[in-house]
Amino acid sequence: MTSTQLDRAHVWHPFTQMRDWNAPGHEPIVIVEGSGAVLKAEDGREYLDGNSSIWTNLHGHRRPEIDSAIRAQLDRIAHSSFLGLTNDLAPRLAHDLLEVAALPDHKVFFSDDGSTAMEAALKMVHQARLQRGEARRSVFFSLANGYHGDTVGAMSAGHSPTFHRAYRPLLFETREVISPACYRCPYNRAEPVRGIEARPSRQCGWECIGELETALDAAGDTASAFVLEPRVQGAAGMTMHPHGYLEKAAAACRERGIWLILDEVMTGFGRTGTMFAFQAEKVTPDLVALAKGLTGGYLPVAATLASETIFDAFLGGYAELKTFFHGHSYTGNALGCAAALANLAIFENESTLEKNAGLERILADRLAVFWDHPHVGDVRQEGLIAAVEIVQDFTTRTPFPFTDRIGHRVCEAAKKHGLLTRPIGDVLVLMPPYCVTETQIGQMVDALWRALEEVLPMKSN
Ligand SMILES: Cc1ncc(COP(=O)(O)O)c(C=O)c1O
Repeated sequence: MTSTQLDRAHVWHPFTQMRDWNAPGHEPIVIVEGSGAVLKAEDGREYLDGNSSIWTNLHGHRRPEIDSAIRAQLDRIAHSSFLGLTNDLAPRLAHDLLEVAALPDHKVFFSDDGSTAMEAALKMVHQARLQRGEARRSVFFSLANGYHGDTVGAMSAGHSPTFHRAYRPLLFETREVISPACYRCPYNRAEPVRGIEARPSRQCGWECIGELETALDAAGDTASAFVLEPRVQGAAGMTMHPHGYLEKAAAACRERGIWLILDEVMTGFGRTGTMFAFQAEKVTPDLVALAKGLTGGYLPVAATLASETIFDAFLGGYAELKTFFHGHSYTGNALGCAAALANLAIFENESTLEKNAGLERILADRLAVFWDHPHVGDVRQEGLIAAVEIVQDFTTRTPFPFTDRIGHRVCEAAKKHGLLTRPIGDVLVLMPPYCVTETQIGQMVDALWRALEEVLPMKSN
């Protein structure tokens, strides 16, 4: 049997309507190899990896440094338990992570993926509050349309109408606060201006911060923690926050004794320009969740960085049961840690952040073409994350009916032009690996543009 036949017979894919997947005529792409920013399929076709393999890959596929670090580790050991034991890689990785995060007094709790990193953060806050005699502080706040993963705790902190609808009865309550997503913000009085992103052209009085403060004050001494994806909310549609929001929100939390949980699962490791998005705004988060790019997109390793205050709340006599009763079988996995250490070394050896600044400018120049299309409502970019939002009406920002599946159709068409990327609703995403060349950026933009033109021809407008 072919890979496709086996897949159809036995596999259930994530976030996928399997009736469509298994419908006659749908021929899935079977990836068998990768190199740099290019993925190769079983039929020999090559594709540019336009979303870094769902936002995980950093320095490209088959990076020799990461490959050889994993191979070398295989000659020693692949995995041993982190319960009651340690190994010679995870502590070094913890040290290096805290160094690049400039959070020297935090502690690192390892897990497997973005959802578990967030799940651990939420449980840490809950238990730390209890053990500090602050049981009243039980209310979590999080941003509208936020997405923090698919486990039950992570979903509770999320507010995705599509993803979370069915699971609401399973979730604990978190208070939703307005997202500072300028393009669709009800407080943004500016008319859309073609060629200018919504954030710099917005007209508002930081009402989003005012609303946050009102919500925090309403909870008074029951307020516990504020959860957010700093600067860019990925699954919300790559919605981007105005610079300064994070600093203001962090100050509002600090003044009220509320802990700040930052989900840097997507934004971490240079994606937004700085190593971590929070470093651009000079805030000190109480908890940070990291995953995806932590191993350069190779292996599932995640980390939750926790402040000394939170860590100390778990110290006590054995019988007090203050232990953090949470852990995963593959915690501290040696192969993953070897990949992560090699990944961080590349940042240092190649001055990745400086190099990326040049790529960001090239991407910005090339993206400008999208403003020529009458159905492009917003073109936004933060670091090496680019988003093109398609709308039915530019002036009113009215979206197409979701059943038209414009974003999906454009990305399907882009495959024919050699680009793989996944839309979020009608938001087209380009998030190249950092090894991407100027030529490849041009090819990605051209492929997406041609695909957009095929689905929504300009001539008919
Ligand atoms: C911001 C954010 N948090 C958490 C997650 C969940 O990560 P994972 O899919 O590794 O569980 C994601 C995944 O896309 C994410 O974008």
